[in-house]
Amino acid sequence: MCGISGVVGLRNVTDMLFEGILSLEYRGYDSCGVALMKRNKLTIKKNVGGVEEFFRKENILSHKSKIGLAHTRWATHGKVTRDNTHPFISADKKFAVVHNGIISNHRALRDQLEREGFKFESETDSEVIPHLLEKFYRQEKDVEEALVKTLNLLEGTFALAFITEYQPGSIFCAKRESPLMLGIGDEFKFIGSDFNAFVEYTRNAVIIDDGEYAIISRDAYIVKNYFTRMEVEKPITKIDWDSETSKKGGYPHYMLKEIYEQPQTISNALELLDGPLDELAELISASNRVYLVGVGSTFYVAKFGTYAFSTYAGEFFPAVSSDEFTALASLDQNSLALAISQSGETFDTLTALKFAKSQKSKTAAIVNVMGSSIARLVDQFVMQGSGPEISVISTKAALTQMTLMLLLALKLGLKKERISKAKYKEHINSLREAPEIIHSVLNERSGFIHRVASRYAKSKHWLYLGRGVYFPIALESALKMKEVAYVHAEGMPGGFLKHGTLALIDDDIFSIVFIPPKADKALYESTIHCVEEIRARSGFVLGIHFDERGKNRNLFSEELILPPVPPILAPIIQLVIGQLFAYFTATTLKRTVDRPRFLAKSVTVG
Ligand code: AGP
Repeated sequence: MCGISGVVGLRNVTDMLFEGILSLEYRGYDSCGVALMKRNKLTIKKNVGGVEEFFRKENILSHKSKIGLAHTRWATHGKVTRDNTHPFISADKKFAVVHNGIISNHRALRDQLEREGFKFESETDSEVIPHLLEKFYRQEKDVEEALVKTLNLLEGTFALAFITEYQPGSIFCAKRESPLMLGIGDEFKFIGSDFNAFVEYTRNAVIIDDGEYAIISRDAYIVKNYFTRMEVEKPITKIDWDSETSKKGGYPHYMLKEIYEQPQTISNALELLDGPLDELAELISASNRVYLVGVGSTFYVAKFGTYAFSTYAGEFFPAVSSDEFTALASLDQNSLALAISQSGETFDTLTALKFAKSQKSKTAAIVNVMGSSIARLVDQFVMQGSGPEISVISTKAALTQMTLMLLLALKLGLKKERISKAKYKEHINSLREAPEIIHSVLNERSGFIHRVASRYAKSKHWLYLGRGVYFPIALESALKMKEVAYVHAEGMPGGFLKHGTLALIDDDIFSIVFIPPKADKALYESTIHCVEEIRARSGFVLGIHFDERGKNRNLFSEELILPPVPPILAPIIQLVIGQLFAYFTATTLKRTVDRPRFLAKSVTVG
């Protein structure tokens, strides 16, 4: 949601502060600010705009300091203005605070502080923190005491950090629900919202848990519980990402890089077959009610999972969006909430899992970030190993998660003898072909997709249609088009057309239809009927199919022909096309791609 970065060390830190906060920009980029300590005096710089623009305009790198904080904001409370940009400073100008999350009782705290004479400069919830620190420091004359009193007053979620003239060599930070971790280097200590903030400088991380705070200086750090005030022994987590992995690798955008990484991420997922997926399949098998839970792309992954488990395991596991889960789920000690979350920090999904636990349900998750809040919350998790997904637009993570759904469904189907060992092996072998097939589709079809996307980039409205397991593919592909190209796109089950949507068809509506291989006869024919219904009203249809060229002469307005693939793989391959189509539409429209307007990579607020 927002990004926090901090460094304290033996030498100047402003360059590392810049690299750190820049690597977190995918978490939000409405505005940026830094707090530096120079000769034990606080310097605050902040403004609207992205990180690079801010550091350049304010010439931040010309400031030298051995300790500092940086923040990049995704607005939740208060408009995008300079006054609402972090850091916030206390009235006595001695505390500079950055915050990620939502202080849910900020209104009552603000009213009380204003009655006590404190003046606020912003509309934000976060600004109550520096004033509370000052208030309690006046009483306690001790920074740590002031922090503990403040933390025990705050309700809601936070990852917060501050530096203060009262203890100029230390960074103080604390966590409840929003992610926060330390980077332990020899000459520098770091804080960050995730590993990207410091992976270039150290791979030794300490993950801060809810209810803990930390005090770091250039040669030491300590972690304590802010209820018990007892020190907490924390293990060092070795980060297995290297900074190269997180770089663009020559691609124009992270989104394209991550689309092209999909052969590798599927290979990584296949490595999980005997081990983590076995255990998760056991847990699923032992549950008498299973919900698949996610939001945004991961909700569409969950919907894909519903079809996968129904087809290969004969089980109906409803997909429920995280934000609706508490209203819909009926849970007990025999149920299982299986969450899917790339970041492992999504507020709605965390909330859903906490609700499941409160109902005595078992919980599990598929995540892509080691040590994430969701991974640490659930009874069992699978680390999908797709590597850092930097673009706000999820591609490799979601496609890999769909592959994991297929693998789990096959495992369950074998366990329940719904499919034979031979059929299981055949499907697994088909999935092992996925990396090579995706690799060739990317290399042989992306030029054509680019041309078609450029030709129709000015289209204002798209209808994405799929039947059966291609419906979630249509939904996810439509979401890509919305969030990266800012073009209206509606994903819809093909069967809905004649129940109303057909009335929409005219020159302004462009339809994309994801057509299964002919081997899936019933689904193939019913999907072709959708195309015919639209074409009979002179509607535009881009057909994405596996038939030989010319087979459907004059049926489509445009057609994109894919190489024959095993039916189990077909929806995944269709999604790759959906991703590329959105990407090339966005680049034709000159969108920012990796950092779409108004969005953030991880939505850690409700
Ligand atoms: C995907 O392109 C979106 N950026 C968004 O829908 C995302 O999938 C959703 O916020 C869930 O995030 P998570 O996987 O980190 O939980």
